[in-house]
Amino acid sequence: MRNHILPHLYPNHLHTHPSSAGVIGYEIYKHLPSVDVCIVPCGGGGLISGVSGYLKAVKPSVQMIGAQPQASPQMVESVKAGRIVNLPTLDTLSNGTAGGIEEGSITFPYCQKYVDEWEAVTETEISTAVYDVLDRHHKVIEGAAGCGIATVHRKAKQLTGKTVVVVVCGSNISPAALSKIIADNAPVGYI
Ligand SMILES: Cc1ncc(COP(=O)(O)O)c(C=O)c1O
Repeated sequence: MRNHILPHLYPNHLHTHPSSAGVIGYEIYKHLPSVDVCIVPCGGGGLISGVSGYLKAVKPSVQMIGAQPQASPQMVESVKAGRIVNLPTLDTLSNGTAGGIEEGSITFPYCQKYVDEWEAVTETEISTAVYDVLDRHHKVIEGAAGCGIATVHRKAKQLTGKTVVVVVCGSNISPAALSKIIADNAPVGYI
């Protein structure tokens, strides 16, 4: 168990990260105005605050879904509780989103207001998602991005027929972690 990870720092006076992440919302809407659903991996909430703040302003019908690992579900649990709660962070493939939320963070009210739904995904789901993208699309993604893809897998039925965007937020994964994901997911006899 790891509980020494520092909180994500988005203090009240610092709007820089959410507002720059708003540009991603702008790009999504510019290139795909038909977007119905937007799924964003979430740690301290800076990325999803910006993307959802922009998309909800231009198209309020867009359904915003936040994705976190079950091993570090701080925003999911905080929104549920109506206040910031910081739980221990366990080991997770989604190290980009691991950690707590700083008390007074500006991201929390954004997440309460603009995110419609939250999913906390398991390590197995994240691993399968990273493998699936590698296998089908020949792209390497990191665990945080895997949370978004895992959410698509989990909600595949409800998402069918909708225009869905997933913010695939990075490919910073170690060869060791990727090798284990391949070993865990490849069909028997494949490697
Ligand atoms: C790879 C990756 N994905 C997603 C995020 C989003 O995290 P946050 O919700 O803290 O903005 C981060 C943050 O650093 C990240 O590194």
